[in-house]
Amino acid sequence: MAHTRELMKEFLLPGGVGERLQKSLERRARKTENWLSDWWMQSAYLDSRMPVAMYTSPGVVLPKMHFQDRQGQMRFAAKLIAGVLDFKSMIDSETLPVEYLGGKPLCMDQYYQVLSSCRIPGPKRDTVVNHAIGKNPPTHITVVHNFQMRESWKRDGAGDLWRRWSTHTQTRNTRGDRESQETGAAASPGPVHTAAGIRCSPPPIRHRALVWPWDWRKQVEKKMELLTEVTAGAGEGEALVDGVGGLMFFVLDVYNSDGSPLTVDQICVQLEKIWNTSLQTNKEPVGILTSNHRNTWGKAYNNLIKDKTNKESVRAIQKSIFTVCLDAPKPRVSDEMYHNKVAAQMLHGGGSRWNSGNRWFDKTLQFIIGEDGSCGLTYEHAAAEGPPIVFLVDHVVDYMRRNEMVRTPMIPLPMPLKLRFNITPEIKKDIEKAKQNMNIMVHELDVRVLNFSHYGRKFPRSHKMSPDAFIQMALQLAYYRMYQTCCPTYESASLRMFKLGRTEAIRSTTTESLQFTQSMDDPSKNNGEKAALLEKAIKVHREHTHMAIHGQGIERHMLGLKMVAIEDLTSLPEIFMDTSYAVSSHFNLYTSQVGSKTDCHMCFGPMVPDGYGVCYNPMDDHINFAVTAFNSCEETNATKLSMFLEDALLDMKTLLEQVSKAQ
Ligand code: COA
Repeated sequence: MAHTRELMKEFLLPGGVGERLQKSLERRARKTENWLSDWWMQSAYLDSRMPVAMYTSPGVVLPKMHFQDRQGQMRFAAKLIAGVLDFKSMIDSETLPVEYLGGKPLCMDQYYQVLSSCRIPGPKRDTVVNHAIGKNPPTHITVVHNFQMRESWKRDGAGDLWRRWSTHTQTRNTRGDRESQETGAAASPGPVHTAAGIRCSPPPIRHRALVWPWDWRKQVEKKMELLTEVTAGAGEGEALVDGVGGLMFFVLDVYNSDGSPLTVDQICVQLEKIWNTSLQTNKEPVGILTSNHRNTWGKAYNNLIKDKTNKESVRAIQKSIFTVCLDAPKPRVSDEMYHNKVAAQMLHGGGSRWNSGNRWFDKTLQFIIGEDGSCGLTYEHAAAEGPPIVFLVDHVVDYMRRNEMVRTPMIPLPMPLKLRFNITPEIKKDIEKAKQNMNIMVHELDVRVLNFSHYGRKFPRSHKMSPDAFIQMALQLAYYRMYQTCCPTYESASLRMFKLGRTEAIRSTTTESLQFTQSMDDPSKNNGEKAALLEKAIKVHREHTHMAIHGQGIERHMLGLKMVAIEDLTSLPEIFMDTSYAVSSHFNLYTSQVGSKTDCHMCFGPMVPDGYGVCYNPMDDHINFAVTAFNSCEETNATKLSMFLEDALLDMKTLLEQVSKAQ
């Protein structure tokens, strides 16, 4: 640390490099709406060459549905689509209610980025296109339906299940004649949407620009203090089968020619047509290409869109308002494993033989509805953070609850357009590579869902403690007990009090959190002392949260100084290449609260190879957690951390109750 301190002292010298960079950053802040947002989008997302599936795109799991039959699934999907269109109408008319955090209005811009947008792979950096902006905003969604030719499968063990599925498949296959009829109708043009053009400017709330009303030197020094504070599974087996996967993308126009959205009934009929037309296919799962390493996908993309038909099909997907993935059932697992499997399905689709090809991972919003009642979504992260996504989900769930199906007069609608892809041998090779890569990734990620049912956010509140800080301290305790040390911990904090604001990081590991975690199993400390240390740690965490959401955090400021250095200087100041700096930013615990009204949970992968991703949704009386880790890392184990987390939460409750009783 002595060397780091020296470097920092030098960096902060009056007239030194730090001051130059700060001035440059302030100039940028005066010239732009938000000096950070573009840089953040680039460095956190668009420059990243890792696959979006699992590495950056989160999944959201909704409660399991119990469809009686396929009709039930279609009706559910239709209602969901209608619910999203209802939400879209608020975006289009700019009547979306403004959100508040700590009594302050939040920038609503992210809501204007999630529909009709898509990420496009580039050779070195990706881009995001938003088709809602422009003269002809889209009026269609894309629906993808997968079909796996189960009759050709062979499996290892438990033959009954497979035989039954085979029979089921053969029954369906007898409908081939229907498929050919409707395929013929597919070319008929869809209705022309004449709705008023979508305005995409966010509601007129004046947000402050992100600037420095405080002493920037102190802030960089604060980073130093935090640096000094830093001290420092195998997924269940899957039946492998031989099979041929196939999928089909459809364009489904969701507006009538007068601009009104299709009713639930109408959407349902259209989905039925799609289902029946895609019963059997030996098409290649083109969508799996989007799951690959970005450079690899970038090259494959150029190759794919060389063909005019492919280019048009890709563009239809990119331009669509959102995508609906009608998934095939997952392999049957125990009830205990079910939640983990659904979370994995939302994150990556379960592999090339299951539903990973049934996606277009670049698409910003993809709702997933499985034949077996699993449902949720995955979203490409560059456009928005989790909270706007779950706010949308809350609206859709509420809409679905409120709206019973209203029967509408049936005006015949054209057959949804089946998208065509011409698969050359080269594209086929790219698909095979993508499949292989996806299957490796699927086996690499361990996802554990912990539905902590003993209490929810009401409990810490009843003890006058911030629920979020309480959960963060439980995570610290769990990690400490598992490793006898703490680690750099990242918690996302919203910067949406600022125009175009995205996130800042709260560092949950502090001297106070360490003192608390060490005290918990220290026999020389009594309960009163432990509770006092917990209270202190929570207070410090709240202070850091306050700083972060008010734009006084450290991480993004350091990123800004580094980005200016990259743009302005010939060489990067040494502080940015310092080992302590690197260690402090190696977040073994990468966490975020994404709260919602709906009893759902979000999940995402770890940030570093030897780390964990932890996302939680504190409800009143229970807390939903999703913990992820990489199986290839011997030191991490998502199941074990979940168990330590559950114990930590229980022990902290007991501690507070015992102390209260004694008083
Ligand atoms: N006593 C009683 N109640 C308290 C309390 C205390 N000492 N401290 C907090 N509470 C209450 C709060 O008033 C709040 O009540 P409300 O829900 O009625 O408003 C509730 O408990 C929750 O507060 P808290 O747990 O402290 O957290 P928070 O809601 O302020 O959330 C963050 C903290 C950091 C998660 C939030 O500020 C944030 O930034 N969220 C966005 C995260 C994000 O963008 N993630 C991106 C993921 S992709």
